[in-house]
Amino acid sequence: MVCQSGPLAERAASQLTYNHLCSVIPAGVNSPIRACKGLDQLPLVAESAEKDLIQDVDGNQFIDYCGSWGALIHGHAHPKILAAVQKRLEKGTTFGVTSAIEGQLASKVVQWIDSVEKIRFVSSGTEATMSAVRLARGYTGRPYIIKFNGHYHGHADFFLVKAGSSVADLPASSSAGIPADIVKHVISLPFNDREAVREIFQDPKLRDQIAAVILEPVAGNMGVVPADPEFVELLRKETREAGSLLIFDEVITGFRLGLRGAQGIYPVKPDLTCFGKIIGGGFPAAAFGGKKEIMDYLAPLGPVFQAGTLSGNPIAMEAGLQTLVLAEQPGFYEKLEEKTHLIVQPVQEFLLRNELPACVQQVGSMFTLFFGRRKVTNHEEAQLLDFPRFARFFRFMFAQGIYVPPSQHEAWFVSSAHEIEHLEKTREAILSFLRADFQIQ
Ligand SMILES: Cc1ncc(COP(=O)(O)O)c(C=O)c1O
Repeated sequence: MVCQSGPLAERAASQLTYNHLCSVIPAGVNSPIRACKGLDQLPLVAESAEKDLIQDVDGNQFIDYCGSWGALIHGHAHPKILAAVQKRLEKGTTFGVTSAIEGQLASKVVQWIDSVEKIRFVSSGTEATMSAVRLARGYTGRPYIIKFNGHYHGHADFFLVKAGSSVADLPASSSAGIPADIVKHVISLPFNDREAVREIFQDPKLRDQIAAVILEPVAGNMGVVPADPEFVELLRKETREAGSLLIFDEVITGFRLGLRGAQGIYPVKPDLTCFGKIIGGGFPAAAFGGKKEIMDYLAPLGPVFQAGTLSGNPIAMEAGLQTLVLAEQPGFYEKLEEKTHLIVQPVQEFLLRNELPACVQQVGSMFTLFFGRRKVTNHEEAQLLDFPRFARFFRFMFAQGIYVPPSQHEAWFVSSAHEIEHLEKTREAILSFLRADFQIQ
């Protein structure tokens, strides 16, 4: 695909297709954020994609920083992944029995992630986190789960809990359709708040009732907000002392921040880890893994039930395996970060030089441009952002043929397929927006 992203041509076909989609699918999308609600923008209706470009049904091309929400670390339709998948397709699309390719991908994960001795594959990140929590509850025999405000662990009922940092307040669910009983054993605390964690673990009524603490070590679902290292260390200490498990949700960060994921940059190891996105190489696969002793609690060896018709699907396993092999090339992650810096550093410098109320937060090849705050450390601060300015920004970038995630509570992802020229074009577009919108001469 030759990049022709630029001022958009007509979007008549996009409008027509979207109208039809809306008549048969709620809001025309199969995951709410894709509807670009609140942005006053007809959503992108994809026709095809290659490398760092996604094309709509009108033939407009967009430089893509969503990358299927982080799954596509090598960009769209990487030829090596495609070739391996095509070869694999000829051998059958699903078996419903175990197969060697599942062992190959499992071994790769075990090889790179020290804390994972055994792993089980599922089909989505939601299944991975839901299963990891069930396993933690089954293994410890305890009911309570601690999570953090603004972290997203998929859409299992019990995870959809709003802010509720004290046990005295019954946590309210953030979705209709979830009875209070389902969320009553989930406590959601402010992220990066060590005192709140200490308080919970000092509560004599709760301490030996906590099955697990789960977190995104580098949160991606309130925009990029990393955990303070001392915070993660405290979680490890408190969980170990209380006999609870520590679960890292690395659905985004796994194989994104390096071959060891977030575990390669924080000084502690979790008991269980959840993977998704990159591990499926653009296909629906995810996984959870950890110490043998805990993983062997799963059926049929142990009493914790967990299953899936398409779990370990051979096509997804092949795509995941090839994705990891490509990421093992020496210098892969360093180059990815260098590419990311091409956008992030000049934009951050511009913001600081002009003392603008905005910031870029980056870890590896994921980052978020926040408007309205000079720093975001938790969900409470992420609620105070300048949303109207972001809506203007999103539309401006879209009109330039640049697709950024349609919310400030999301991460942008740079892939190895991003062309330098496209990164530079993106940087210039961001700077033009900032100059115009903040009226800087
Ligand atoms: C950190 C994290 N955990 C879990 C999930 C759920 O994954 P899925 O959408 O594949 O169910 C997501 C999805 O974005 C995620 O970002």
